Amino acid sequence: MESFSLDREIARLILLQRIELITPFQKKIRKFFGRYFFTNFFSKYFINSEEIGKNYFKEMQEEYKLLSNYIDFQKKKFLSIGSGMCGLELIINSKSSDFFFSIIEKNYVSKKIKYGWDQNNLEGYNDISKLNIFLQNNGMTKSRYTIYDFDHDNLPIEEFDYIISLYSLDYHYDFNLYIDYFKKVLNESSILIFDTIRPEYFFKLFNSVIIIESVQKNVHSSKRILCKGLRF
Ligand SMILES: C[S@@+](CC[C@H](N)C(=O)[O-])C[C@H]1O[C@@H](n2cnc3c(N)ncnc32)[C@H](O)[C@@H]1O
Repeated sequence: MESFSLDREIARLILLQRIELITPFQKKIRKFFGRYFFTNFFSKYFINSEEIGKNYFKEMQEEYKLLSNYIDFQKKKFLSIGSGMCGLELIINSKSSDFFFSIIEKNYVSKKIKYGWDQNNLEGYNDISKLNIFLQNNGMTKSRYTIYDFDHDNLPIEEFDYIISLYSLDYHYDFNLYIDYFKKVLNESSILIFDTIRPEYFFKLFNSVIIIESVQKNVHSSKRILCKGLRF
């Protein structure tokens, strides 16, 4: 498989979530006509779903490759926060066995997505029913995952081996939004991996912090960090 199976609506969500998949032409359109037009019109009708499926697949394979230097995927319990369309989780699914994903996402698409720091965490760019379809159409069995709507569901209270949040937690909104929850679900050996624009902030919060990647993206530059041992 060199691509994901997807329809136009799912391709649109992926493009909004991974805005670096935007072509130079689409970037110009967005700049010229603005975010509202791009989110509600252009991204619905003028995208190449096949290309997005292929490029998203390639990016997710790269993400998997990096994480596999640090993660043993077998027999693990994962918590995915803001996982978008879960391309990474699908790659893990295709290469591992005996794991479970708890997935926390938002269930709406903002009218005018503003990328950058979202102080009030109002930006959402997902549709949980589409996410379910995408996961199952790409080989993830229903028994391997549960999706939680951040705004309406009680979040799962159980210990996780890994918490993964790519370009979501502390990239777009404050880590502290989740800190009380983390105190309930992290144990001493749990590992948290996320992208942040302020890595130094976490040196005092965790016993161990390793920078595993430095990224210069469309939105802002960040570091991907691996943290262990939250200081309560
Ligand atoms: C920039 S996208 C990244 C998606 C995916 N992780 C990726 O790397 O392709 C950020 C995602 O975080 C989600 N999100 C925003 N606030 C959230 C929250 N409080 N909890 C969980 N997800 C959230 C958005 O709906 C969106 O899908």
